[in-house]
Amino acid sequence: MSRPNRVHPLTVRLTHWLNAVAISVLLTSGLTIYNASPLFDFSFPASITLGGWLGGALAWHFAAMWLLVANFLVMLGFGLLSGHLRRRLLPIRPRDFARDLWLALTFRLPHQTGVYNAVQRLMYLGVLAAILLVIASGLALWKPVQLQWLSALFGGYEASRRVHFVAMSAIAAFIIVHLALVAIVPSTLIAMLTGGRMPHPHKGTPT
Ligand code: HEM
Repeated sequence: MSRPNRVHPLTVRLTHWLNAVAISVLLTSGLTIYNASPLFDFSFPASITLGGWLGGALAWHFAAMWLLVANFLVMLGFGLLSGHLRRRLLPIRPRDFARDLWLALTFRLPHQTGVYNAVQRLMYLGVLAAILLVIASGLALWKPVQLQWLSALFGGYEASRRVHFVAMSAIAAFIIVHLALVAIVPSTLIAMLTGGRMPHPHKGTPT
């Protein structure tokens, strides 16, 4: 499915962009569903919501939910079986993380094509875990009777709502930082669209 000298294999690119579409629909329709019965003392402005009304938003949410789940399974299956996740996201050493975080905060972190720094690695693994959590808590909310054991695992229906909200917030926070990092090194966007090319091993590593 992919040429060996590509920065991002085709499956990674396809699943990444389908994931971005599914998450955008789920986030914005989820805010409409939240507004119909807010968990906390605030609601979200209608301008960032999708669906118009509760019924419309639920239709969008359920449609995108299946896209997210199917796509996530392909993403995870490919990542584990091809060794992509292990090669690109591991290991994460606390020392590397502390160094890369400091370099990032002082705007000195170099970007090496095809290599994720420790901050990116932790963020990517973290968002994959948040997606898993949002799916599990979403299933507990969708079928609280049939999947009672799952609902009970989160502490009941109300607690599942809170977990779903927290996992959604973690994904939203990830997206803000993720997009800021892409804006700092826009060439990474081209590679995520076209596949890019790994630098020649003898020509050094462009940043
Ligand atoms: C329009 C929105 C988005 C843009 C422009 C974007 C862009 C990118 C780019 C350019 C990379 C490669 C970074 C590099 O080579 O250093 C990347 C990787 C990644 N992005 Fe996004 N992204 C978007 C949305 C998302 C969303 C919504 C998620 C998950 C919630 C996500 C999760 C990831 C992950 C996990 C990777 C690592 C992929 C891998 O190699 O396995 N992205 N993204």
